[in-house]
Amino acid sequence: MRVFGHRGFSGEYPENTMLAFQKAVEAGCDGIELDVQLTRDLVPVIMHDEKVDRTTDGSGYVYDLTFDEIRRLDCSYPDKFGGKFGQLEVTSLREYLEWMAEEENLITNIELKNSVYYYGGMERMVMDMICEYGLEDRIILSSFNNASIVLCRQNDDTIAGGFLVERCVENAGVYARTCDVQYYHPNMDYLKEEHVRSCSQNGVGVNVWTVNEKEDMRRMKKWGVSSIITNYPDRGREVADEE
Ligand code: G3P
Ligand code: CA
Repeated sequence: MRVFGHRGFSGEYPENTMLAFQKAVEAGCDGIELDVQLTRDLVPVIMHDEKVDRTTDGSGYVYDLTFDEIRRLDCSYPDKFGGKFGQLEVTSLREYLEWMAEEENLITNIELKNSVYYYGGMERMVMDMICEYGLEDRIILSSFNNASIVLCRQNDDTIAGGFLVERCVENAGVYARTCDVQYYHPNMDYLKEEHVRSCSQNGVGVNVWTVNEKEDMRRMKKWGVSSIITNYPDRGREVADEE
């Protein structure tokens, strides 16, 4: 079972920051999950929400702000972490990929945040960047907008895709396989063992989120999921390595 740090090591560090990504690697994760939105000047940036309000000291929609404007914001969450990490910048996807290219064997699940607001052309933009760094075989693209993942696969089938679902799909394996999508990304709260079986019978991997308690991690491991996506990659590593 592989372990992905959800928004990096977000249980202990400000989510989706380079600090959280570096700490996830130090904690022994196999991969990192992160979220991508597009700025007004079409720069892919790593941010979960459509608005900057929750995770920075700014306000407004990402699509209304330029990269320079976003870059001036602080995403260190002084309210949550007491300012102990100092000022942290919003990271562009390019900066992340540059770093990842040097982190041998690290894999990344890039979630395209395009189901609430659809950023036209985002798929191609992100995929071109992945190819620029030669990272095709270390990336999984996922989205709650499943049609966007189908589009990605049509653009370039050398990059794996994952269908993110909020509630589970009964014939998950058939659904993903017939769409030529390699992974199914369910919410653990709605996942049943038979969904995992359906996926494995169809050659589809299961990357389940968000698994934070050791008990749940062990259950997912027993069910035979491919990966857990967790806010605590240190715990995930321990469970994954248990005999
Ligand atoms: O990719 C798994 C998970 O991150 C999806 O939900 O809201 O945390 O992006 P969310
Ligand atoms: Ca996500």
